[in-house]
Amino acid sequence: MPKLIINRAGAAENATGVPALQLVKMKSGLSKRHLRVIRTLPNLRHAIAELRARQRTVALVPTMGALHAGHFSLVKIAQRRADRIIVSIFVNPTQFAPNEDLSTYPRTWSADLAALMELKADAVWAPSVETMYPEGFATRIVPEGPATVRLEDAFRPHFFAGVATVVAKLLIQCEPDVAMFGEKDYQQLKVVTRLARDLGLRTRIIGAPVVREKDGLALSSRNRYLTPEERAAAPALYRVLKECAGRIRAGGPVEAVLDDGRAAITRAGFALDYLDARNAETLAPLAAPTVEPIRLLVAARIGTTRLIDNLRV
Ligand code: PAJ
Repeated sequence: MPKLIINRAGAAENATGVPALQLVKMKSGLSKRHLRVIRTLPNLRHAIAELRARQRTVALVPTMGALHAGHFSLVKIAQRRADRIIVSIFVNPTQFAPNEDLSTYPRTWSADLAALMELKADAVWAPSVETMYPEGFATRIVPEGPATVRLEDAFRPHFFAGVATVVAKLLIQCEPDVAMFGEKDYQQLKVVTRLARDLGLRTRIIGAPVVREKDGLALSSRNRYLTPEERAAAPALYRVLKECAGRIRAGGPVEAVLDDGRAAITRAGFALDYLDARNAETLAPLAAPTVEPIRLLVAARIGTTRLIDNLRV
């Protein structure tokens, strides 16, 4: 096990009492590595300016922490595309509705840092809520297009304005050459891609494949909420996506295939929010299923946990 040394006891989640810039060191075998934990905008600007002065390319991997192999895959892909990797960890309050899990969203700060060191990420941007949303905050980005196609947006109406606002801020703050987003949140990836283009940002948005458990369940920070019984039922989502994709590829009638899929998901113990086939680029309803690129997207609740997944046809 690598040894984690944090230069100030606790490395608390909360910004209170934590140094604005922290160097975390780890001794792992013979190598000594550093991970910069940056908590204020002046320090972030300084770090970015330094990298730019040294002609380093920068990748940003935005996350809400509680990191797992899905997040790690984004870091690894980013490392092939840029010289330096910044991972942001910020549980963004504006993308949670009052009835959602903001207060209980998993926070695993020390484990996140240890894992990022092991992966040789270069810096963690971990702003406080006050830094991201200063007193009197009054500017929101409200995306349209792929954000208003009646998938996630129909069930979480507040969600994409929260995501777009925080992602725009992160991209403006870090000015990365590339930013990584998982296909796990496929609609989010499309919204962010549109946003970067529409705002004329320098950053290229790159999508990365869904990382799954052996039984097909897409990795998610929320999987830890599942009871053993729910966990056992959860792979049904991916199984149904695969069945539907196979049948549609073989020429099956899309609506009938989806109806069978919806019934199968309900039978597996889920309350279904949606299972739909959409244009893979625009997320609009299919107009010409035989020629369009198709993506299947699903969201369903099991117990108190809401899971989403998607698959290319
Ligand atoms: P979070 O849920 O922490 O996810 C961070 C990134 O990891 C997202 O781009 C997400 O799509 C990707 N990811 C999550 N699980 C994955 C998996 N199993 N395989 C591949 N990629 C996966 O998404 C967010 O945070 C937030 O909305 C954020 C973009 C950070 C804005 O607050």
